[in-house]
Amino acid sequence: MSKILGSVSTSHIPSIGKAIALKLQQDAYWKPFFDGFHKVHSWIAEQKPDVVVVVYNDHGLNFFLDKMPTFAIGAAQSYATADEGWGIATIPPVAGDAKLSWAIIEGVVEDEFDVVTCQEMLIDHAVTIPLQLLWPDLLPPPVKIVPVCINTVQHPLPTAKRCLDFGKAIGRAIHAYGSNQKVMVLSTGGLSHQLDGERAGFINADFDAECLHALINTPEDLTKYSIHQLVELSGTQGLEVLNWIVGRGILGAKAEEMHRNYHIPISNTASAIQILQAV
Ligand code: DHB
Ligand code: FE
Repeated sequence: MSKILGSVSTSHIPSIGKAIALKLQQDAYWKPFFDGFHKVHSWIAEQKPDVVVVVYNDHGLNFFLDKMPTFAIGAAQSYATADEGWGIATIPPVAGDAKLSWAIIEGVVEDEFDVVTCQEMLIDHAVTIPLQLLWPDLLPPPVKIVPVCINTVQHPLPTAKRCLDFGKAIGRAIHAYGSNQKVMVLSTGGLSHQLDGERAGFINADFDAECLHALINTPEDLTKYSIHQLVELSGTQGLEVLNWIVGRGILGAKAEEMHRNYHIPISNTASAIQILQAV
């Protein structure tokens, strides 16, 4: 049986990619953010994951507004990155675990989640930047990935409850998969932010704190919010918290918080990091 170790969740702001390229980790603006990853590096060194299920949202690189799957899962042997217009460096292709992808796809479809399966898939900053943060000197990272893409962009979006249930179905599929691989979850995006419109720059630290607390052991508490309430509370792009809710669902009933770092702002976003260990 595969083992689910736990999850690391992090914001995926494109300017982090530029800061990495320019080696600004010790710069006063960036240090409080990058320092939050020391504990992540030691946790990963202890846990030694083989595979990472990356739960994220695509920002128009792989899917555009004309074709937008609610839930899509990559089933490729390799995932290329491409210039997506943020001016950040592409990284070498990242290896996929296509066998685990298919086990997850079969499991969730059996569980009545009608996912789009992608045997070819590009990955954007929401995957590449978190991988660079977790494995800073190793490109490509020394793990295989399964990309799980959630529509947090083009309405109608899946509800928070649907996202939590989807995560639970992925967790069941991983548990049922007959290998002794160690699987880690990496959820990316958020927390509160709004990049455009009248509320551009909106951040809600109180709501972020509520989410970080609920994600530990009471993620059901977040399912009381409708998508419109989540927009009000966390901003139009703060809806990326849906990725964190899917990721939390994968872990199962109980988790222990090993680390948290919350820093405002990086770019327009409340940046947050959380490690949850599956219990
Ligand atoms: C920013 C944040 C995001 O989540 C994103 O996808 C793009 C930009 C930002 O804060 O700049
Ligand atoms: Fe984003």
